[in-house]
Amino acid sequence: MIKLSALNITKKYDRAYVLNNVSVYVEESQFFALLGPSGSGKTTLLRIIAGFLKPDSGKIIIGNRDITYLPPNKRNTAMVFQNFSLWPHMNVFENVAFGLRLRKIPNKTIKERVYKILSMVHLADYAEKKPQQLSGGQQQRVALARALVIEPEILLLDEPLSNLDAHLRDELRQEIRTLQKNLGITTIYVTHDQREAMLIADVIAIMMNGNIIETDSPDVLYQEPGCIETARFLGELNEVEGVVLNSENNFCMIKTSIGTLKAKVSSNFAKGEDVIVGFRPEFLYIVSEKTENTFVCEIVSIEYVGSTINAILQSNDQILRAAFSPLYFKMPEKGKLLVSVDPEHIIAFRKKK
Ligand SMILES: Nc1ncnc2c1ncn2[C@@H]1O[C@H](COP(=O)(O)OP(=O)(O)OP(=O)(O)O)[C@@H](O)[C@H]1O
Ligand SMILES: [Mg+2]
Repeated sequence: MIKLSALNITKKYDRAYVLNNVSVYVEESQFFALLGPSGSGKTTLLRIIAGFLKPDSGKIIIGNRDITYLPPNKRNTAMVFQNFSLWPHMNVFENVAFGLRLRKIPNKTIKERVYKILSMVHLADYAEKKPQQLSGGQQQRVALARALVIEPEILLLDEPLSNLDAHLRDELRQEIRTLQKNLGITTIYVTHDQREAMLIADVIAIMMNGNIIETDSPDVLYQEPGCIETARFLGELNEVEGVVLNSENNFCMIKTSIGTLKAKVSSNFAKGEDVIVGFRPEFLYIVSEKTENTFVCEIVSIEYVGSTINAILQSNDQILRAAFSPLYFKMPEKGKLLVSVDPEHIIAFRKKK
């Protein structure tokens, strides 16, 4: 069931489109990530959903209520910002209680609800502390508690982990995910970090230049991206140019400088079309005999990462990256390798003219 829709949202600043007819649909209890590079319009869209900004056109619907012109405090949404934004003169308890006091909730209920939510974020013993006595991770937990305590219908998070160090980011990311699942709260999470989005979200919408270019689950977006921009943004991609020889049953044969490759396509291409085939470094593997999609490479350089062995390879005029499993990698005697990639793991994209 769709819980929140942003329909055909447009926003312009100085005649430049920051959001260009953007629509998103978020299902009840879903963890939805808005992922895109800096300046793509993520915060602008989130602020429009929260009610801090008005769109030039379009609608925001929660359930079946049109809330486009309601002020933020009437929307039943709660937002957590990147920079924690706690009130420095109030202790943790009062920071979290603030939204409940505004709603004129009786003191006894406030105390119960604040302590319940503080224990959920592991801060029940910190109620009397001031924000400046807390670490960054603890402050962000308070901000999260302050958002959750009002029991919002929609939780909006704008890069909530970006001011934390890597270790805390991992820890709090998992906590947010667990809390969200336990409470079943519909959540939109903004980030420019593809790893974070993949780890936390049920569904990711990829934003570029004020448009959403693709929306799907993390594994589909990573393994079967519908466009090359998604493929590039979600991880390393080898790209080889080629021309379609033939195409049927959602596979096509492509002539390239490293040989003829068989690749997957979402719809069949015409013979002679210019394409780019893309495949991820970890989908390359070493073989001993020439079969389908195999090609000879020279090793340009090797990096031992630990979990993988990363190699830069050259086949004909093409530089390729590989991430081999240390289980199967053996340095070849003459510096040459025969490698392969399965047709299911190569995708052909139409070359834009
Ligand atoms: N008040 C404003 N006036 C003019 N331009 C603005 C204003 N707010 C945002 N913009 C522009 O709109 C574009 C999108 O901004 P937005 O903050 O939504 O991006 P973002 O995707 O959240 O980026 P980041 O990852 O850096 O936070 C940017 O080019 C920005 O300069
Ligand atoms: Mg932003």
